[in-house]
Amino acid sequence: MCGIVGYIGKRKAVPILIEGLNRLEYRGYDSAGLSVINKGKIKSFKSVGRVSELEKKIKDNLLGQIGIAHTRWATHGKPSQKNCHPHYSCEKDIHIVHNGIIENYDELKKQLIKKGHQFKSDTDSEVIAHLIEEFIKKATLKTAVVKAVKMLQGTYGVAVISKKEPHKIIVARNGSPLVIGVGKEEFIIASDVSAIVRYTDEVIYLNDGEIAEISEDNLEITNLKREIVNNPIKKLDWTIEKSQKGGFDHFMLKEIFEQPESIRNALRGRTEKFISEDFLPTLGGLESVTKKLRKIKKIIIISCGTSYYAGLIGEYMFEEYAGIPTEVEYASEFRYRKSVLDETTAVIAISQSGETADTLAAVREAKNKGALTLGIINVVGSTIARQTEAGTYTLSGPEIGVASTKAFTSQLSTLILWTLVLGRQRNMSFAMSKKIAQELNKIPTKVEKILKKSREIKKIVKKYITVKDFLYLGRKYNFPIALEGALKIKEISYIHAEGYPTGEMKHGPIALIDKDFPALFIVPQDSIYEKNLSGMQEIKARGGKIIALATEGDKKIINLADDVIYIPKTLEMLTPLISVIPLQLLAYYFGVMKGLDVDKPRNLAKSVTVE
Ligand code: G6P
Repeated sequence: MCGIVGYIGKRKAVPILIEGLNRLEYRGYDSAGLSVINKGKIKSFKSVGRVSELEKKIKDNLLGQIGIAHTRWATHGKPSQKNCHPHYSCEKDIHIVHNGIIENYDELKKQLIKKGHQFKSDTDSEVIAHLIEEFIKKATLKTAVVKAVKMLQGTYGVAVISKKEPHKIIVARNGSPLVIGVGKEEFIIASDVSAIVRYTDEVIYLNDGEIAEISEDNLEITNLKREIVNNPIKKLDWTIEKSQKGGFDHFMLKEIFEQPESIRNALRGRTEKFISEDFLPTLGGLESVTKKLRKIKKIIIISCGTSYYAGLIGEYMFEEYAGIPTEVEYASEFRYRKSVLDETTAVIAISQSGETADTLAAVREAKNKGALTLGIINVVGSTIARQTEAGTYTLSGPEIGVASTKAFTSQLSTLILWTLVLGRQRNMSFAMSKKIAQELNKIPTKVEKILKKSREIKKIVKKYITVKDFLYLGRKYNFPIALEGALKIKEISYIHAEGYPTGEMKHGPIALIDKDFPALFIVPQDSIYEKNLSGMQEIKARGGKIIALATEGDKKIINLADDVIYIPKTLEMLTPLISVIPLQLLAYYFGVMKGLDVDKPRNLAKSVTVE
């Protein structure tokens, strides 16, 4: 996904811009570029591929203390030198970088071509540079940018520099995140705080419809009506160390191994009240909506990707323990279909980044329809976190690996806490909430136990390394885990995999089973254990190979499965928190053994901020 970095201050801009782009690499991209102003002249460099390629092209002595840079993830026009940002005006005196999608670019482009503008790229973004060029004839750079963005339909996070006013950067936002890092006599602009943490821990978030004029020693934010707005400076608690690999080969592995800690963080200070207080405890972020929560009759969970699967598990929990009818919807579907909801519906957005375009749009749609909007979000201060009425931060820290791992288990931990809140407001006994909360506290230790099995899991991967397809099966709480396990192996190792509820297997997928099409069964000793065993028999009878995830001490399983990975026993509703761990490791080792870039799988982006 596209990333923006900008610098203005007393230091050489290039190293800071390159460092920023490197920090944004995790978002996924296909090309990179930057422009720097030095002594009134603008120089620009672009490259398809990695940021390191761009770095090679830039001369060591490229001076200049003002610059903008970009990593592009193609939407309009293929990845190529000409489509790479920054884009320029005809005179090449205005350079812009843009995140988002300009929906009316075609129409604007035609109008600008009629006026004599010449376009160099296939992108939607380039229209911004030409629009500014039109307006700057009779205006300052800021006024020209304001006029230009007012013409745009769609989303943008944009940073602009110009030869005409060479001591400024103008940035504007509508629907694509932009953050301004406030340093000592310098500002670092970025689409994401990861590019800023190394330089400062003080940031200002730009809101939609705001525009900032930044010079070395001054920052002024206004809305598009040019009224000054005073956005507060916020303190970041993400350190640079937190954003690095910490001795692991990949971010993904580091993040898998961080889960005992990240789950503890999600639970810290939050479970005690369910164990010790027999009145109705809530969570800090939900206090303001306690009364509204008591009145809700229906829940709709909206999310995408891995967060969607967390939502599916939430559905099982909310219905079983809080008795609230719950639906889970892909945010991309919810935003366009006619959902029936009102003020007795709570719409819960689950998102690691808090910036996923579809989830954000779905939240806005739900708000318009009068529903109570809530968020389960990881990134503090992100757009969805700010736009929902109340919610809980999952506190898993920065997740850099494109495929989500620790953010997922933190989302699950949070959903369990929400189940306790909602359940206790209704029919759940204090004894039950105490039992669940106590067992929840033991989960991090159980996860540690599974992580010790990584060698064993690696051996299994070696055995199946030539496999081209996999069927992942589970029931009830572990059906969404079958879906998540299959997604993970697809994303990381490019092995085709399908997740299914075990009981549905006989209605189709079983036709695929043969000796080369193995099945992975999640089969803990829970309320549907025996039913799962029958599914295994059916696969075995057809010559299919089976890897089973089973409860420690289960001997029966040895006769049915070719390989078994044992997981510790826990309450049925909590099993997803531990059954997902071996599946993350399986996907990781498959990817690594196949020599793939597990942290940045092809075609995927960490934060999908376009539709
Ligand atoms: C992308 C990522 C996934 C993630 C999904 C939803 O597709 O690659 O890992 O699950 O977006 O992201 P969110 O930030 O909303 O949880």
